[in-house]
Amino acid sequence: MEISVTVNGREYTRVVEPRLLLVHLLRDELGLTGTHWGCDTSNCGACAVWLDEIPVKSCTVLAAQADGHRVRTVEGLEGPAGLDQVQESFVLCHGLQCGFCTPGMLMTARWLLDHLPDPTERQIREALSGQTCRCTGYENVVRSIRHAAASERGAR
Ligand code: FES
Ligand code: FES
Repeated sequence: MEISVTVNGREYTRVVEPRLLLVHLLRDELGLTGTHWGCDTSNCGACAVWLDEIPVKSCTVLAAQADGHRVRTVEGLEGPAGLDQVQESFVLCHGLQCGFCTPGMLMTARWLLDHLPDPTERQIREALSGQTCRCTGYENVVRSIRHAAASERGAR
């Protein structure tokens, strides 16, 4: 079937198998390998992207379901002015080690701060409850998101 999806502001049209998952459309058809594929069982959250402004696990969405919709991936975080603040803060606060979980963490963190500019630690941990990290113990991930929130509030 033919589908058209707008990813990071650019429209792509592809002929795909109806069973193709969104994560595979992004990675294998569009070459956007920043979205990671960690488990395929909807557990790890490394594949999180936005579908029409809502974070979803792209291994649980068919590419066909994204037809006519907007997708934002980690490649779409950086703007003309440079890295997004959450990316900056993950670097500054050592919010990653191997980095495998990081794309999903960043997409969830960006969504959280867009909706809740001053989240408590508990709210951050709740937002991250669908993301698994096997390296950091989450401490520096939470610290990074708090740093990003404070930086953005300071910049406002
Ligand atoms: Fe989608 Fe793990 S690959 S949740
Ligand atoms: Fe390695 Fe999170 S930094 S899984």
